[in-house]
Amino acid sequence: MIRFSPGSRCSLSTVVWSLVGFLLLNHLYSLVNHNGGNGGDVRFRAGDNPVICDLKEVEQENIQIPPPRKRSPRTTKRHSRRATALIDEFLDENSQLRHVFFPGMKAAIGPTKSASNDSSYYHPGRIWLDTDGNPIQAHGGGILYDEKSRTYYWYGEYKDGPTYHAHKKAAARVDIIGVGCYSSKDLWSWKNEGIVLAAEETNEAHDLYKSNVLERPKVIYNEMTGNYVMWMHIDDVNYTKAAVGVAISDHPTGPFGYLYSKRPHGFDSRDMTIFKDDNGEAYLIYSSEVNSELHIGPLTGDYLDVTHVMRKILVGKRREAPAIFKYEGVYYMITSGCSGWAPNKALAHAAKSIMGPWETMGNPCSGGNKVFRLTTYFAQSTFVIPLPGLPGLFIFMADRWNPSDLRDSRYVWLPLIVGGLTDQTLDYNFGFPAWPRVTIYWHKKWRLPYGLSVLK
Ligand SMILES: *[C@@H]1O[C@H](CO)[C@@H](O)[C@H](O)[C@H]1NC(C)=O
Ligand SMILES: *[C@@H]1O[C@H](CO)[C@@H](O)[C@H](O)[C@H]1NC(C)=O
Repeated sequence: MIRFSPGSRCSLSTVVWSLVGFLLLNHLYSLVNHNGGNGGDVRFRAGDNPVICDLKEVEQENIQIPPPRKRSPRTTKRHSRRATALIDEFLDENSQLRHVFFPGMKAAIGPTKSASNDSSYYHPGRIWLDTDGNPIQAHGGGILYDEKSRTYYWYGEYKDGPTYHAHKKAAARVDIIGVGCYSSKDLWSWKNEGIVLAAEETNEAHDLYKSNVLERPKVIYNEMTGNYVMWMHIDDVNYTKAAVGVAISDHPTGPFGYLYSKRPHGFDSRDMTIFKDDNGEAYLIYSSEVNSELHIGPLTGDYLDVTHVMRKILVGKRREAPAIFKYEGVYYMITSGCSGWAPNKALAHAAKSIMGPWETMGNPCSGGNKVFRLTTYFAQSTFVIPLPGLPGLFIFMADRWNPSDLRDSRYVWLPLIVGGLTDQTLDYNFGFPAWPRVTIYWHKKWRLPYGLSVLK
C-alpha cells in the first residue's frame, strides 16, 4: 500500500542505500570522470523529493505456481525453471493463474467506479474504464500534452475486434479499426474522444485497409504549422512492408488526415516512436534491419518527413518498443527485446546527444519478483510520460498483451524515477559519464502524489 502525506519521509533503508550510492558514486567518479562529464550533477534530485520517496518502496509479489500439468517441457538457459513456468502460465489462456495477470471486470478501475476508495489509483493490469464505463482502447499508445487546452491526450490502437490468425504461421491480430483518442486533465480519468484516424473499409490498396497493420501511433504538435502530427508503424499482414505512416490534424481530437507511408531513409521500419525535444526539434526512432538495430533521425521542420540524417544505434542488440524521455539534459530510452506478444526483459539506455552514442544500462525494473523483473511486469514499453511539476518522476506506460484476445490487452502504468545509485552499465565504455539509475518500481496499486497538479 502506498500512502502520500506531505511530511512522509524515506524509509531508513532508502537513506542507507542513498548513502551507499553516494559513496559508490564518488568512488566511481574518481575512477572514470576524466572528461569533466556532468552526469554527477543529476544524482539525487528525484530521491530527495519526499513525495516521490513513497513511490520508491520495493513491493514484492509472491505468486504460487500451480503444479505442472501436461505441457511441453521447455527449459531455456537464460530463465530459471520458475521463470519459465510462470511465463508459460501467463501465455496459457486456460491457466489457473489467469485472474492474476488479467483480472476480470469486477476488479476494473475508472471514474465510473469512483464510489470505491480506488479513485485516482493506478492498478497495473486491471481493466481500465473510461468516463462512459467502457474499457479504454488505446494500445501501443502515447500521450500528448496540449498546452492550448491544458489537456492530456492518449492515442493508441483501438483493438475492440476479434482476434484471429491470418494464416497458419501468422501472429495473432485484430483488423485495423483505427487510432483511439482519450482526453484527461489528471492522467487517470479518461474521456473517449472517438476514433481520430479510421481504417479504410473498401479500398484494398490503401495503407489503412483493415487487413493491414497500424501500430504504435504517436502524436506531437508542430508550433510552426499549428498541426498535430501523427506517426505510426504501417505494415501488411505479414509484416513485409515495414514502413512508417504520417497523418495530420489541426485539432488534437482529429479527425486526422492520412498523408502517406514510406520506408524511412530507405530502411525497413517496424516498432517506432517519435520524440519532440525542448528546442522543438523532433526525431523518429525505429527498429530496422529486421529488428537487429535501431535507427534515429531528425524530422523536417514541419514534422511531416524525415531528413537525410540518420544514425544507427544499439546495433546488433535486437531491441524494439522504444520509449524516449529526457531529464536534466540527458536522453533516456526504455526498450524491450523482440519476442512477439510474449513479454521479455526491458533495458534502459542513456545518451548525452539524442543522435548517440547510446549506452545500454541494466534492467530498470525493480520489485515484484524475479519473473516480474524479467518480463517487464508481463508487459512491453510504449511511452514514458514526463510530469513537469515532479522533476525526476515519470510514468512508464506499457502494454500487457493478451494474444488470445488482443482487445483485452491491459495497461501497466508505473512510476519511473531517475536518480540515486548510478546504473551498472552493460556496455562499459571509458569516457561515458556514470548515468543516474533509471528505475521502474512495481506497485500493485499506486497514485500520483496527492494534491500536486500534473498540469503545466
Ligand atoms: C473505503 O474506506 C473506508 C475507510 O477506510 C472503509 O471503511 C470502506 O470499507 C472502504 N470502501 C471500499 C469500497 O473499499
Ligand atoms: C502472407 O503470407 C502468406 C503465407 O506465406 C501468403 O499466403 C499471403 O499471400 C501473404 N500475404 C501478403 C499480403 O503478402
